[in-house]
Amino acid sequence: MIGVLGGSGTVGAVTADRLARYGLGPVRVGGRDLGRAAAVAESLDTEAEAVRVDLAHAHSLAEFCAGTSVVVNCAGPSYRVLDTVARAAVAAGADYVDAAGDAVAMTALRENAPEALARRSAVFSAGLMPGLSGLLPRLLAQDGPLARLDAYVGGATAIGPLSAVDALLTRGPGFGSAQALWRDGRVVEHALAPLRGVVLPGFRDRVHAVPFLSAEARALGEALGVDELRNYTVYVSERIPEALARAWADIDAGGDLDAHVPEVVAAADGDVAVGGSWYTLLFHARARERGGSGPTRLLLRTPESYALSGVVAALTVDALVRGKVPAGAHAAADVLDARSVLDALSADPLVDEIDLA
Ligand SMILES: NC(=O)c1ccc[n+]([C@@H]2O[C@H](COP(=O)([O-])OP(=O)(O)OC[C@H]3O[C@@H](n4cnc5c(N)ncnc54)[C@H](OP(=O)(O)O)[C@@H]3O)[C@@H](O)[C@H]2O)c1
Repeated sequence: MIGVLGGSGTVGAVTADRLARYGLGPVRVGGRDLGRAAAVAESLDTEAEAVRVDLAHAHSLAEFCAGTSVVVNCAGPSYRVLDTVARAAVAAGADYVDAAGDAVAMTALRENAPEALARRSAVFSAGLMPGLSGLLPRLLAQDGPLARLDAYVGGATAIGPLSAVDALLTRGPGFGSAQALWRDGRVVEHALAPLRGVVLPGFRDRVHAVPFLSAEARALGEALGVDELRNYTVYVSERIPEALARAWADIDAGGDLDAHVPEVVAAADGDVAVGGSWYTLLFHARARERGGSGPTRLLLRTPESYALSGVVAALTVDALVRGKVPAGAHAAADVLDARSVLDALSADPLVDEIDLA
């Protein structure tokens, strides 16, 4: 039995669907609203059950995890939940996959790690970003070390209230550093300026690329030993960056974070209203050795970035079930096979284009 906590949400419903399609069921779909969970469970092409669960209550969460072999966490807000669900899963003897989590949740689990983590796996950042953004560029470094890697990830996508809380929480040293890049094994602060109104392959019209050396990008730079890595989040307008900047200024002045959720949701809706929902991942690499024969560009386009995160979470479960993930706490990008994931995504209806050249 695979438990999908938050299986009635935007990410979780797709995770549950792909688990069924991959033949990994039976599936337990959990959320506070039993009716919503039941609707998803009934839609699945596998044996499935719906369970009412509130992760804020330890007993309820423990009951949800009992009898599962893997718990996939698609509930949140992830940066408030941190390692709560991971600890409950491991305590129930299950492995764990987190569609979000990032380095902050993984670090929380590793500090004072449960003894059972010596035998169980907990995989964090198993979504699009973090997730694919840290995994797929590794395909560009398979033929030798890189002198330079540039990453652009973004587009227009609806952000629900729960994910808006996560967007508002994504700042501070645990998450990354604005305007920084990775060079010669260290973070260089204040090195990059936003690229406004740029044209990028695979992105529609002109976009704004905002430099942000995320914890994931930094780990990628370190893992690949790339001489220089530049990481950009791409927006179709100034709506979201401005909404976040306004919110953070108010929060720093003592304002309430949750009060800014509607503003972030509206900003994302405004972007989608202009040109629909679309999202692109673009990676450019330059080899250290001249004349290298490996690929230098990877492009992936999807209409639904949140849904694609659900696919990645399900692919991570697949890797776990096949015994491809060692025990302990890991980022998905460090334990998934980039080529296998790319091949699976190529066959997924949520992917419009993959180009590795
Ligand atoms: N890595 C990535 O690229 C990526 C991309 C997108 C999203 N995410 C993350 O994925 C998570 C889900 O995002 P989403 O947009 O899918 O959210 P969503 O649509 O709001 O879905 C949230 C799900 O969690 C359930 N839930 C919420 N609070 C709960 C609680 N206390 N106990 C149990 N279940 C609860 C909800 O059901 P009920 O309301 O009925 O409880 C629902 O099923 C967020 O943390 C987000 O940051 C990651």
